[in-house]
Amino acid sequence: MFNKRLKTLKDILPMARQGKYAVAQININNLEWTKSALNTAQECNSPIILGVSEGAKKYMGGFEAITGMVLGMIDFYKITIPVILHLDHGTTYEVVEEAIKGGFSSVMFDGSKRNIEENLEISKKVVALAMEHGVSVEAEVGSVGGEEDGVVGGIRYASLDECKRMAALGVDALAASLGSVHGHYEGEAKLGFEEMKEYSKATGLPLVLHGGSGIADDLIKKAISCGESKINVNTEIQEAFCDALVVYFESEKYKIGKGYDPRNIMKPGLIAMNNAIENKLKLFGSTGKA
Ligand code: 13P
Repeated sequence: MFNKRLKTLKDILPMARQGKYAVAQININNLEWTKSALNTAQECNSPIILGVSEGAKKYMGGFEAITGMVLGMIDFYKITIPVILHLDHGTTYEVVEEAIKGGFSSVMFDGSKRNIEENLEISKKVVALAMEHGVSVEAEVGSVGGEEDGVVGGIRYASLDECKRMAALGVDALAASLGSVHGHYEGEAKLGFEEMKEYSKATGLPLVLHGGSGIADDLIKKAISCGESKINVNTEIQEAFCDALVVYFESEKYKIGKGYDPRNIMKPGLIAMNNAIENKLKLFGSTGKA
């Protein structure tokens, strides 16, 4: 059972859907990402979802290490906003089980690379396991395009029938893929706004928009008004961090005083991430909604 200081998607997404705003999932990669997402959300009085991919789990030393870090920071920084610790794109039942055992409060099962019958069968088992532990579940239908953590996929729009069948299993949030991609878009994102409205109404579920980076602000706002209640952002935050470090090294600040100290090196990256995350929370309308 997860630590009660963590919340689930059930605690925040129905309200977001009703209030026509979206909660950001910020994918965390290390201590700086976690610290930035928690402190920025706290300053904005916004709920926050910390997403952890299977690759990020390996990088950070496993689910238990991540849970320990997040809970420790919640205490240390006196974080009072709702924090959801969420497995992003869990591709097997076993990894979902591992995340729940490791103290996560929420999981995504991504069966989008399987056929729909297999996807539904495993999602059903995931819902049963999650219910036993009070953990929330996000499931994917259709397929998000692009590349994330080595997982490559083409865009496949979700159908209404798939959405209804997945919703009937009792999932808490539905990643109905409607034209978004992980990473960079070629040209403008071609999002299925009519389908968003239709699927949101037909299932009664909060929809999840993966690939939230690189979509124009007006399209994001339209997607939220059409039923997207959770938006995942990773690439844009990574780029903000990276760009700030490029400036730091190019200006040779590391040669001045203790500029070589890793905490000083990270500082401009951290500030850039804080700003990038704050902009997203404002755009999604979740500030003041904690
Ligand atoms: P981006 O990297 O395109 O922001 O997508 C993040 C995401 O959808 C994580 O699940």
